[in-house]
Amino acid sequence: MIIAVDGPTASGKGTIAAALAEHFGLPFLDTGLLYRAVGRQVFLDGGDPDDAGDALAATSFPDALLSDPHLRSEDTGGLASRVSVHTSVRKALFERQRAFATRPGGAVLDGRDIGTVIAPDADVKLFVTASAHARAERRWKEMRGRGLAVALEDIEADILRRDERDSNRADAPLKPADDAIILDTTDMTREQALAAAIVAVEAKR
Ligand code: DC
Repeated sequence: MIIAVDGPTASGKGTIAAALAEHFGLPFLDTGLLYRAVGRQVFLDGGDPDDAGDALAATSFPDALLSDPHLRSEDTGGLASRVSVHTSVRKALFERQRAFATRPGGAVLDGRDIGTVIAPDADVKLFVTASAHARAERRWKEMRGRGLAVALEDIEADILRRDERDSNRADAPLKPADDAIILDTTDMTREQALAAAIVAVEAKR
């Protein structure tokens, strides 16, 4: 069984995807991490994330970079969003994701284009979303919990910028597949969202 989980930044899709993988005993790939590694590698190379050539060169990042804690930062998320606009970068990362999706026994992948491009044949497609304000508040609380002083308005502005770039790029923009189940978690707790996701997967099995 292939489960595709897509959605905008800070929607909780990663948490839901990881929990679904655990619940159904499937391997899990966070595809955003690949784009984050490319963004981070461009930075380490002193390159320009908006330059297709620099970004493509960074797709040959070493595997060890995938466990770099810097990948989780907001700054790297922004760089990832910028390098992900380039078609050459998306092509370079395609095979790795497709191979994971088609593993015998199935897999869970989360990203922006899993249900539309990487695994249009997925058995279950979830599109996890929430209002920009709710997403900003969640990220703000999480960052404050880690001792980071940030203004809620700045986080919300950054989220809106990322949404705009991810949704309006020409290649594989962020959008639900026609057959995706939309899970709007604005008024849900984490537990309610996960329970709803499990019900959606069970219904499709
Ligand atoms: O899910 P995330 O925040 O880690 O993703 C970081 C960026 O990577 C996101 O803003 C856009 C890009 N991305 C993408 O274009 N396609 C994917 N399948 C996953 C991420």
